[in-house]
Amino acid sequence: MKLWSGRFSGATHPALDAINKSIAFDIRLWPYDIRTNRAHAKMLRSVGLLSADELRLLESALDSVEKEFSDGSFEVHESDEDIHMAVERRVTELVGDPGRKLHTARSRNDQVATDVRLFTMDAIGAIREQIRGLVAELIQAAERSIDVVLPAYTHLQPGQPVLLAHHLLAYVEMMRRDDQRLDDAAKRAAVSPLGSGACVGTSLPVDRQMTADLLGFSSISRNSLDGVSDRDFVLETLSALSIVAMHLSRLGEELVVWSSKEFGFCRLGDSVSTGSSMMPQKKNPDGAELIRGKAGRVFASLSGLLTTMKGLPLAYNKDMQEDKEPLFDAVDTVSLSLEMARVTIETLEVDRNRMAAAVSPEVFATDLAELLVLEGLPLRSAHEAVGQLVRLAESLAKTISDLTADEVATAASEGDEPIDIAFVQKLGIEHAIRSKSIVGGTATSEVQTAIDEAKIWSGNAQ
Ligand code: ARG
Repeated sequence: MKLWSGRFSGATHPALDAINKSIAFDIRLWPYDIRTNRAHAKMLRSVGLLSADELRLLESALDSVEKEFSDGSFEVHESDEDIHMAVERRVTELVGDPGRKLHTARSRNDQVATDVRLFTMDAIGAIREQIRGLVAELIQAAERSIDVVLPAYTHLQPGQPVLLAHHLLAYVEMMRRDDQRLDDAAKRAAVSPLGSGACVGTSLPVDRQMTADLLGFSSISRNSLDGVSDRDFVLETLSALSIVAMHLSRLGEELVVWSSKEFGFCRLGDSVSTGSSMMPQKKNPDGAELIRGKAGRVFASLSGLLTTMKGLPLAYNKDMQEDKEPLFDAVDTVSLSLEMARVTIETLEVDRNRMAAAVSPEVFATDLAELLVLEGLPLRSAHEAVGQLVRLAESLAKTISDLTADEVATAASEGDEPIDIAFVQKLGIEHAIRSKSIVGGTATSEVQTAIDEAKIWSGNAQ
């Protein structure tokens, strides 16, 4: 018998049962449903809707149900549509009549919204912990490689020399914004809808502040219709998780490219690589590829739920039951990807020589133009002059650093001063890095400051 069967005659069609049931996935909410029930029962007692004895019985039944869930002995019945019905059904089996009062002044509509909010708040906390774990690895890798130089790329073409530490810290910045976004999403999740009832609240004298406080919410919802039908907090979480996944996919892609034979900038640990079933020589970066690939399903969760929510009339609609699977999947996927990224960075072996070898002298061209600007040349003239030098070097199959003083002298346009060879001689990795001492630049001192600062915000400072 269904808990709502009062006004119905006959059984539901199996197709309806199949499409309607959410217990297969929302069983995951059991810890939150138990918590919500405990708080609700306490509140019902405090406003006089339960006797002290009834509360005691309900609390001991909830303890038993909690135990059954934790030790795996909870039996889901055919009639259990969702986790809320399953818990209430079992509590009533255990204590009889008081169980029939547990749902007083409540609907599954405000109950599910409460449970999902509690789940989201916990999940965000756990993901933020993992972000800090990955950040700790990135910071350590940055510290180990504070003197490693590689080209910074734009359009995947070598641009200018950069410290590897600076490159790694760019990911730390992304993770930092992710952390802020998740923190922000958690704030809006921390609003208690309990008491909104099915849609317009309840005529029974509930104490909404009490349940909110017991459950650790920071405030209560201001509108009952919105209280039961708001899933913005799920969408915001999915959006923040999508951006995390997008960042991780960029990291994954860089590791795939860097570990390729052609780049050879790093070797991925054996523990995060796999072999080929056909090609014996292969060592494939599957972990990094899947970090990249998993982003797709996280974005799908976001766009899927946006589509579900779009156009829904107020207030609760059963469509909203479709919020849970995308949320759970995105949380699990991002969690797994963060762990994969963390161990990949932990076991990463950087080939500093290959990185240094990729710093071909052309990547000093911008430095040369800037040296000329410091001498008073307009930027456009400096850019033009250096461009000509690069073209000359290319035509002689040389790099700009190999040009002789005479060759350098011939590179100027009609009527322009030729570039002084002394400037060309100044160029090099040492000058390139040292000269970028502006805030946020790649000079060692700046990068060291960024490392120290990142350690503080991420709680990794000793
Ligand atoms: N399983 C439902 C969900 O996840 C719970 C709320 C059902 N409410 C209702 N009136 N049928 O959304």
